[in-house]
Amino acid sequence: MSIPLQNIVLVGFMASGKTFTSKELARRLGMERVSTDDLIVDREKMPITDIFAQKGEPYFREIERAVVRECARRRGLVIDCGGGVAAFDENWAALRPNSISFYLYAAPESVHRRTKGKTDRPLLNVDDPLSKIKELLAKRDPHYRKADFVVDSNEDNIGKVVHAIISILQDRPS
Ligand code: S3P
Repeated sequence: MSIPLQNIVLVGFMASGKTFTSKELARRLGMERVSTDDLIVDREKMPITDIFAQKGEPYFREIERAVVRECARRRGLVIDCGGGVAAFDENWAALRPNSISFYLYAAPESVHRRTKGKTDRPLLNVDDPLSKIKELLAKRDPHYRKADFVVDSNEDNIGKVVHAIISILQDRPS
């Protein structure tokens, strides 16, 4: 299969499987993978929880926007977007040209099951994470659905998600 010159953009909620899927896609397609979160951590030289705690979410979103714009200027990337990226129209405006995008849909219960007991996602470090997940996902879902394709990512079988995306890429007219 030929490598798309477009970027492959993965969006979706926290713990929807974007990281694993993006790594596997990049490996299978021989493309370069970037993660907006990793680029932010490299740039700020501190973990995301510390950026939120010390500098606040608006600062994080500003750096995120800059990183998204930089990724969008490049070609042939698999871009693993942090869960908040697709919630902002200007990020979509930057990412959409020359890209094919996939929303990895995971229901609140799946996200909760996968994130329970972890503390690396500042937005979920609250007393009732399931309610928070439901509230945030309800707000963000319409934005995630601006992606070209929606792929179900509720089963803990990311291989299936990768397979679904590769099938879609293969079926596209070249
Ligand atoms: C966030 C998702 C995280 C990370 C940050 C904020 C969000 O990325 O960018 O904690 O707003 O949903 P993952 O989706 O990779 O967990």
